[in-house]
Amino acid sequence: MSDSEWQTHNPAGSRRVVVTKQLPGERWLQILTQADCEVAVCTSTQILSADEIRKAIGDRCAGVIGQLTEPWGEELFAALKAAGGKAYSNYAVGYNNVDVEVASKHGISVGNTPGVLTETTAEMAVALTFAAARRVAEADVFMRSGEYRGWLPKLFLGERLTGRIVGVVGAGRIGAAYARMMVEGLKMNLVYFDPFPNQALEEFIAAYSAFLQGRGEGPVTCRRADSVDEVLKTADVVSLHPALDETTHHLMNAERLSLMKENAILVNASRGPVVDEAALVEHCRRHPDFRVGLDVFEDEPEMKPGLAQLANIVMVPHIASATSWTREGMAILAASNVAAVLNGFAAWEENQGVEAFLGDDPPEAAPSIVNAQAVGMATYSG
Ligand code: DGY
Repeated sequence: MSDSEWQTHNPAGSRRVVVTKQLPGERWLQILTQADCEVAVCTSTQILSADEIRKAIGDRCAGVIGQLTEPWGEELFAALKAAGGKAYSNYAVGYNNVDVEVASKHGISVGNTPGVLTETTAEMAVALTFAAARRVAEADVFMRSGEYRGWLPKLFLGERLTGRIVGVVGAGRIGAAYARMMVEGLKMNLVYFDPFPNQALEEFIAAYSAFLQGRGEGPVTCRRADSVDEVLKTADVVSLHPALDETTHHLMNAERLSLMKENAILVNASRGPVVDEAALVEHCRRHPDFRVGLDVFEDEPEMKPGLAQLANIVMVPHIASATSWTREGMAILAASNVAAVLNGFAAWEENQGVEAFLGDDPPEAAPSIVNAQAVGMATYSG
């Protein structure tokens, strides 16, 4: 990466912060400059290697805003620590690319960006569900290639979703938002698996069901399954929303895929390695009525051989959180995480929500530090 691919803002700032990609909006930069930071931003769109990031950190760096494509482990945290660093924020809610234990060992706070991408990401999972069910991408290609010769009763038959069973694996923020959209919008019945019951979701669906019945409509149901397998066997549509760790790597393997209905729909907007992509290619080859919507891939940006040729898979390049509002919000949260740590502020409590940081009078706190306890940060008390 040449020097010309780095841009410096506020060169007089006393603390140097490295930002490994250009971020949308203006506010994030104001937050860092108001915290007396000189900000070095990489203007290249290429994914940086650990070596390039280490060079950018150099011998003076107080904090970094990094990307989910970067390997934040011993090499980088040791370099950041040696350069005087105290803060790192991932520009993402997921942080499977970050070795949090190693960061904590070096006394470096690790931030992420929850809250602002919940509905946005769930909306993309819904979009992929619809696109897969109604064969939107296939039909678009057909239309553009001039193959349409007139309306036909059996042209591009797909799946009707209304009233059927939607399955969710991982009912955290995004999984629950997706579940609500599908239940509320299409009156689908929910079966979900999560190690912890989502009481708010269950209460919402019970209240919605009572509302529907009060209007003389049929009920909707919600059931927490005992296992992932139960969701896969039962549901017509399954959307995956677990965090990626050793327990969820290849959660969807050949055996689990074979449990699903032959005409089911599988959506993944979580992390690519949750699905064994080679097994998925094989399964889709053998089951042409099985449909898939993918936002994420096992070896991004590569695709496993055969994936791109399958008409029963619709895919987008990891853009589920890509709306301007969300990506600007993520930038504000990442910058606030770094600035707050450098200013010695406390950590915001996880269940308080992050909306307060998007307004004109943000609290003097770090919106989301995942290892706050381990690095001895106090909890914000107002
Ligand atoms: C995340 O935040 O984890 C997404 O994958 C990118 O928005």
